[in-house]
Amino acid sequence: MSRTFTMIKPNAVGNGHTGKILDMIAGAGFRICALKMVCMSRNDAERFYAVHKDRPFFRRLVTFMTSGPIVAAVVEKENAVEELRRIVGSTDPAKAEAGTIRKLFAESLTRNAIHASDSDENAREEWSHFFAPDEIMDAGYWLPCPAEEIDSK
Ligand code: CMP
Repeated sequence: MSRTFTMIKPNAVGNGHTGKILDMIAGAGFRICALKMVCMSRNDAERFYAVHKDRPFFRRLVTFMTSGPIVAAVVEKENAVEELRRIVGSTDPAKAEAGTIRKLFAESLTRNAIHASDSDENAREEWSHFFAPDEIMDAGYWLPCPAEEIDSK
């Protein structure tokens, strides 16, 4: 079992698509291990996307990512990085495959609805911007507490 990081971007959150996107991710067999809605500061976004700092689209990307709340999540499945990127689709929505999250919800290359990490190493680095280790739930936390245990209290 492996984990990856994803972030629903301000256009998808603002357009009310958070629930539908999380449902697509869960429906593809992912377990949600951590979930948080936050507004990134410019400093947060510049640090998160530091690898792109010399690219011509960097300022536009930072401005967009700070334009409203995002929803950050750590999700778990076999081959999580590859499997999530498969259902997310191409970075450029014009090239995204039918049925992918970006085909359904992205508006442009910048406003492309969702981010998904591209390697295990980058996933760990990226989720550390949003989650402390104790905010990422292990499988044991996910199992519902037996009803009789609660009802007997
Ligand atoms: P994301 O998966 O979050 O990773 C980096 C982001 O930069 C990418 O999605 C796009 O939103 C954005 N991006 C990548 N290439 C370009 C580009 N050529 N023009 C504008 N934005 C881009």
